[in-house]
Amino acid sequence: MWRELRPLGRYAPSGGYRRFAWTAADADCRAWFRAQASARGLAYETDRNGNQWAWLGDPAAGGAVVTGSHLDSVPDGGAFDGPLGVVSAFAALDELRARGVRPDRPLGVVNFGDEEGARFGLACVGSRLAAGRLTAAAAHELTDADGVTLPRAMERAGHDPGGIGPDPERLARIGAFVELHVEQGVALAGTDHAVGVASAIWPHGRWRFDFRGEANHAGTTRMEDRHDPMLTYAHTVLSARKKAAQAGARATFGKVAVEPNGVNAIPSLVRGWLDSRAADEETLHTLVAAVEQAARERARRDGTAVEVTRESMTPVVDFDHALRDRLAARLGGAPLLPTGAGHDAGILSGAVPAAMLYVRNPTGVSHAPAESADEDDCAAGVRALADVLADLGGDGSSVPRSEGAA
Ligand code: GLV
Ligand code: MN
Ligand code: MN
Repeated sequence: MWRELRPLGRYAPSGGYRRFAWTAADADCRAWFRAQASARGLAYETDRNGNQWAWLGDPAAGGAVVTGSHLDSVPDGGAFDGPLGVVSAFAALDELRARGVRPDRPLGVVNFGDEEGARFGLACVGSRLAAGRLTAAAAHELTDADGVTLPRAMERAGHDPGGIGPDPERLARIGAFVELHVEQGVALAGTDHAVGVASAIWPHGRWRFDFRGEANHAGTTRMEDRHDPMLTYAHTVLSARKKAAQAGARATFGKVAVEPNGVNAIPSLVRGWLDSRAADEETLHTLVAAVEQAARERARRDGTAVEVTRESMTPVVDFDHALRDRLAARLGGAPLLPTGAGHDAGILSGAVPAAMLYVRNPTGVSHAPAESADEDDCAAGVRALADVLADLGGDGSSVPRSEGAA
């Protein structure tokens, strides 16, 4: 599976991946998913929101146990964030078959569309739509950097956007969703645990800062006469860094757009996107308000203007305790880990019992080409996922149960 996936959407100059939603690279990944389903004789479907599903057993029977993740990437993302969960899902199904496990419940593998939000700015679009946490009307307003709307992009990729929106019937068929993911930190590195279990996801959001100033000549405009929004932006970045560190939280300006973007012109507009996260919502909101205030104060000094738009906000996720404890016990006391990264499992957790497994990442690097996981740890992840699916799917008779498994 890795051999086939490896070249898809790979950007040779960085060695990372550019698998953005509804692009040709995304279509290649989707074709791969469909081929994997078909090679295993699984029933395949794409739902109204563009999420792909492969089924062992009839999902209409209800109580399904679903696993999977996403195949899209951030710009120059690593090979594992997303794909490890999908590859492991298919491999775990193979493992169950090899063990002779016959689950009582339908088992599903899912590839959620547009998890990273790299193209349209909002993360987890496929799962948000399905769970009713993004309205069809709001989804219709999403546009990429070239002004292409999400529905238009779907249409161009051969998916009818007419039916996007809440999908309660489909979610009602799911008894449990378990997403396996590469760890995006070093909590497991250096321990003797290859696999951990998610406890919580920090609240997080994205805010667009528009800094407006006065375009002018870089050579002839005296320094004291300028209204340069780049200065206001630069000050805001430094201030976000300082305030996040003080609050024990995270703040990142990782994307910036400049107009007119000329080397010899003072910009008229600098647009920077703040990604901010914290362990609790009060800390997060206090931090973002402080960054905004710092931007406004600096704008007064620079003779510029700043406008802040919240583009998304995802509240804290506290994963279903019974399910997470059952997984941890089933895996012989796997550690429980909170994370600052968002996931489809977090979005779904309001609608269905959801849980996550993390596979050790030796360096913790993620959202970058250097993201990695050892082959042995990936194999341990597959076995753990198979154990969990056997436990949740019924008929785990051929699988020895560990002490304390529910
Ligand atoms: C998703 O990977 C995120 O940005 O947390
Ligand atoms: Mn990611
Ligand atoms: Mn991911």
